Amino acid sequence: MAVLDQLTSQDAIALEDKYGAHNYHPLPVVLNKGEGVYVWDVEGKKYYDFLSAYSAVNQGHCHPKIVGAMVNQANTLTLTSRAFYNDMLGRYEKFATEYFGFDKLLPMNTGAEAVETAIKLCRKWAYEKKRINENDAQIVVCENNFHGRTTTIISFSNDPDARKNFGPYTDGFIKIEYDNIEALKTVLESNNNIAGFMVEPIQGEAGVYVPSEGYLTKAKALCEAHNVLFIADEVQTGIARTGKLLAVDHENVNPDILILGKAISGGVYPVSAVLANDAIMNVIKPGQHGSTFGGNPIAAAVAMAALEVVKEEALAQNAEQLGILFRKEINTYIETSTIVSLVRGKGLLNAIVINDTEDSSTAWDICMALKENGLLAKPTHGNIIRFAPPLVMNEEQLLDCVNIITKTLKDFEK
Ligand SMILES: Cc1ncc(COP(=O)(O)O)c(C=O)c1O
Repeated sequence: MAVLDQLTSQDAIALEDKYGAHNYHPLPVVLNKGEGVYVWDVEGKKYYDFLSAYSAVNQGHCHPKIVGAMVNQANTLTLTSRAFYNDMLGRYEKFATEYFGFDKLLPMNTGAEAVETAIKLCRKWAYEKKRINENDAQIVVCENNFHGRTTTIISFSNDPDARKNFGPYTDGFIKIEYDNIEALKTVLESNNNIAGFMVEPIQGEAGVYVPSEGYLTKAKALCEAHNVLFIADEVQTGIARTGKLLAVDHENVNPDILILGKAISGGVYPVSAVLANDAIMNVIKPGQHGSTFGGNPIAAAVAMAALEVVKEEALAQNAEQLGILFRKEINTYIETSTIVSLVRGKGLLNAIVINDTEDSSTAWDICMALKENGLLAKPTHGNIIRFAPPLVMNEEQLLDCVNIITKTLKDFEK
């Protein structure tokens, strides 16, 4: 079979099954085209994308402005490494630091790399500025967190699939309950070696858990009082997804370290970033951290275009309004439903909780039925289905999606 022959879905799945590592369990749909809120499978069937590549494609599939920026830059200069300067990185760093309100940006590629970067930055700051004794620094994280898949990051996960048989694990992390301000207070008061508190403003992978109002504000105040860095992992919640540019903006909290990924490129190219002010970022000196591809000219051009689109198309406002409408419609459905127990979320990051045991396949079965009905979504931990469409969706399309979802759910009512 020639590499570029047209494949059927079955062929494509068989190839991945035979030649690819089995580290994912995708829904059996094979996509070969995307535009805006839609994707098409290789047989030509059209779907609403209700996952947006885990919130990377906030600006919609193949946004012409972002793709244009990428093609243009790819025809000019792709990669220099950081051994030399390029004429795009500085422009992007100025643009993005002004956009998010920080002094400096450290460019990386994937979300996990940016999280690793934030951990290293926080530790270095702790030893050199806070004067914690060497190798004693601790970072507080939350139970049920998801920050990526590297060895260090899975060391402080409590998901058995992420951890089991990947030890030995990295030290230096203390886990506390999410959305429990007393737990944070206790750990900060009882330990002088805390360097940072790393938190997802909404726990996405865990099942879209929105903390109580005021949690982030109180957590930031506690961190300030104890000279501990507040690190917001906004890889999934950032870039307008929750109805504000950042999820911390709902509480006007300014993180000391901000971690971004996914939609900073509109899903067009792997781009991630860590932002902080000089007092923190300046602890990193030449040779102490880096990445061959981090800050490459294509990434810089793509990220600037992607961030411009967010403002030009008022995506945060759209996510806010459509999110309210989505939860209202689903809540109306839930009033008479036995299969869905609740809907929760902010902006267009939402989830429904399926009323069945955690180990049942109901959420998966519903996603398979949604696929048949022209909408793609994926279960997350337990019996929870995450709904995160591109933010370029309009009201008519959203109501069409609500219709598909409720009609599909009806077939699962007892
Ligand atoms: C909050 C959060 N942090 C980090 C990551 C890791 O990002 P990546 O998959 O690009 O490494 C994710 C991915 O889903 C995430 O949701």
